[in-house]
Amino acid sequence: MLGKYFKHSLLKKIANRAGTPVYVYSAPAFLKQISTYKKAFKGLDPLFCYAMKANSSGALCALAAKAGWGADVVSGGELYRALKAGFKPGNIIFSGVGKTPAELEYALKTGIMFINAESMEEVLELERVAARLKVRAPLSLRINPDVDPHTHKFISTGRLGSKFGVSFEEALKIYMYAAESAHLNPVGAQFHIGSQVHKAGPYALAAGRLAAFIVKLASRGVNLKYADVGGGWGVKEGDEMPDPAALAKAVGSVFAGTGLKLVLEPGRSVAAPAGLLLTAVIYRKQSGKKNFIVADAAMNDLVRPALYGAKHPVALIGPGGEEKVFDLVGPVCESGDFLAQGVRLPEPAAGQLIAIYSAGAYGFSMSSQYNSRPRAAEVLITGPTSWRLIRRRETYKDLTACEI
Ligand code: LLP
Repeated sequence: MLGKYFKHSLLKKIANRAGTPVYVYSAPAFLKQISTYKKAFKGLDPLFCYAMKANSSGALCALAAKAGWGADVVSGGELYRALKAGFKPGNIIFSGVGKTPAELEYALKTGIMFINAESMEEVLELERVAARLKVRAPLSLRINPDVDPHTHKFISTGRLGSKFGVSFEEALKIYMYAAESAHLNPVGAQFHIGSQVHKAGPYALAAGRLAAFIVKLASRGVNLKYADVGGGWGVKEGDEMPDPAALAKAVGSVFAGTGLKLVLEPGRSVAAPAGLLLTAVIYRKQSGKKNFIVADAAMNDLVRPALYGAKHPVALIGPGGEEKVFDLVGPVCESGDFLAQGVRLPEPAAGQLIAIYSAGAYGFSMSSQYNSRPRAAEVLITGPTSWRLIRRRETYKDLTACEI
């Protein structure tokens, strides 16, 4: 499915010029996800805030900003990058369980749309910062709707007992407090139930609970403007497009006609299909009955297989030998360093390229220099034969650049 965006002939040219491992993104694929979201939600007129944690590359973020999207940021660093990429401050929201006073101040000075606070203590800190700056802080609360999204335990966030959000009960108290404050302006309510959620059912359940709560708040004199249903819409690894129409239906049937502005924070579903990791084979070897391909990309480049058991489709670029079952591993000194396990591939020769698909989200953004491996380069395909380097490969010098 993704083949049309990533022609093998072009991937070979990119690897020749940019080297490997290299993240390759497709601007047309990224923009297609954006337009599919827009179409699916037509009529509801939501604000989409691209969740930058999925991929904060300036070139991709600029595409989202140009398409009229806002940004969902979770750190001062992401806010800095969002502004640099051209997102309008008034279209930026700030999420996360542990925003520091300095980050809150940065957000307020920037004039962002709202802050999704996650505890009474954070709200009190926000109030202090706003008072110091002599402003009213636009406040939304992340509410934990206690809904099971049926996803990996590391990325499931919507059940009570997780570190995220506040209960409806606590939220009611916080909103009543905020409504009385000279420096807090309660404008919204949010939930984010988890990531890689494949069914609309949990969203419908959470949205229904949120809507009922917003009505209750209004009866107490607190009228919100925004209903934010988070991100988390899943992708089938290796597939071009998850259809968000089911999601639109689930939340649309709850919020349409309420006068609330709907906000969404998709990350993975926009970026994942728009990127792959291109790696070159260094060696082949056998151990016991297992066949290994040792490639030049490793868990420091793409940690998702090791961390979540994620299965990214892999393909050999160009013809290979006899088909065999392989584990695709990297040079990092850990048995957990694998990119794919038990995959059937034509036997590659050393130097041949392998594409690891669905790596546009939480690939580069979660990469590290572990084993003192300079981070990979990033490339953006802009047309059928055109591409450009959007981040140079790190050098050995970069590894020690911050040491003093
Ligand atoms: N909004 C909030 C508040 C979030 O915490 C997240 C993701 C999103 C939006 C975007 O969710 P998405 O649409 O991308 O699923 N590293 C993991 C995923 C962690 C997601 C954390 N929060 C992975 O590689 O699967």
